[in-house]
Amino acid sequence: MIKDTQNSSWWSGRVAILFLIGFFAIVFIVTSCKKEGQKPPETERYPLPDLPAHFRAIPLDPTNLPTKQGVALGRKLFHDKILSGDFSQSCASCHNPELSFNDNKSFSLGIDGIPGRRNAMTLVNLPWYTSFFWDGRAANLPEQAIEPVPNPIEMHLPWEEAVARLKGHPEYPDLFYAAFGTKDITKELTAKAIAQFETILLSFNSPFDRYMSGDSSALNESARRGRQIFLTERGDCFHCHVTSELFIHPSRAFGNNGLDEIDFPDDFADLGRGEVTGLDNDKGKFKIPTLRNLAFTAPYMHDGRFATLEEVIDFYDQGPKISPSLDSIMITESNRRLIDLGHYGLNLSTQDKQDLKNFLLSLSDTSFVHNPDFRAP
Ligand code: HEC
Ligand code: HEC
Repeated sequence: MIKDTQNSSWWSGRVAILFLIGFFAIVFIVTSCKKEGQKPPETERYPLPDLPAHFRAIPLDPTNLPTKQGVALGRKLFHDKILSGDFSQSCASCHNPELSFNDNKSFSLGIDGIPGRRNAMTLVNLPWYTSFFWDGRAANLPEQAIEPVPNPIEMHLPWEEAVARLKGHPEYPDLFYAAFGTKDITKELTAKAIAQFETILLSFNSPFDRYMSGDSSALNESARRGRQIFLTERGDCFHCHVTSELFIHPSRAFGNNGLDEIDFPDDFADLGRGEVTGLDNDKGKFKIPTLRNLAFTAPYMHDGRFATLEEVIDFYDQGPKISPSLDSIMITESNRRLIDLGHYGLNLSTQDKQDLKNFLLSLSDTSFVHNPDFRAP
């Protein structure tokens, strides 16, 4: 009997030890599994608006789909002066949301007060573009966003320093973690966040858009006549400026619309597209800009040479100046005939010019420049 009792307590001791070992083993497995499979925080897709039927689907970058967290981070970075050498300038300094992300200067000043050599560009409906900058040297938005920070005549801050500032900031590491699941901030992730914010800068509520969606009262008589001039050989604008999203031709990214009289390709003050490709026929060509939101983005052209839309329309009316890379489209059958008569150009009446201007202004979207989603956080 005594032996038996001893035996059973011996066994129950063993069972208790085994049980404890088992328990700790399970705890260990569970905690180590949790560590290995630690998932990045959940992100939510940014709710993009439904666009009117005259828009093509948004060509989103599948490797950088906008999320609520990514857009919030990009918005903060876009407005933050931390990305400039002396903390005096952000992307928004030259791309002001109230001016359709432009700055109303012919040439923007960088942090050292040195003017750039080109007019700042409006940031609207960017996903439909296939190249960026006046010369198209960047192929996508993240690639573009990397450039202004170290640029000595813009924000003038080496990326190593920019990344160090962001890593040492009280909020950014957590915001990067929420957007990308890592606190290891890099210039590439910074650019991706900014690109997500730029993707949501969609403008689709101008009077023209309302007209296209069936509200015939959205364009007055004059703007409708202007539309006819724009879309026919009268004004001949549509060969280069069409498509609803941007008012550029889908297969015509760059053009020379005849701003200057030049004899030899290398004589252009700015070689534009030719600076990137080196081809003579590209020298003096520039990215065909969107015609959306012109009401907010004066002055016009790559060098801001025209202060008003009247000046732009007078320029087109007078006809192009001749240069080697001039687009043949600028010399239409009708103005070729006029050249033979000793003058050329569109020969628009004062009323025609007013109508064309009213049509161009109907592409401006006031709700875009007042959108709180696009403002500083
Ligand atoms: C000092 C003024 C200035 C600052 C600051 C600036 N930009 Fe720009 N931005 C410009 C100018 C000027 C151009 C046209 C330059 C060219 O074509 O060479 C431009 C072009 C662009 C374009 C091309 C748009 C298109 O349709 O091709 C994008 C996008 C852009 N900037 C975004 C940014 C972002 C993002 C930042 C901040 C990281 C920034 N910019 C900071 C002046 C500025
Ligand atoms: C051959 C193609 C072509 C044709 C045709 C054409 N444009 Fe342009 N347009 C361009 C190019 C290229 C630019 C930019 C030129 C530059 O800055 O060097 C431009 C610039 C503009 C701008 C300035 C936009 C800005 O943000 O600076 C306006 C406005 C404009 N065009 C309106 C018109 C109108 C109106 C017509 C018809 C009367 C027309 N265009 C015909 C190619 C064309």
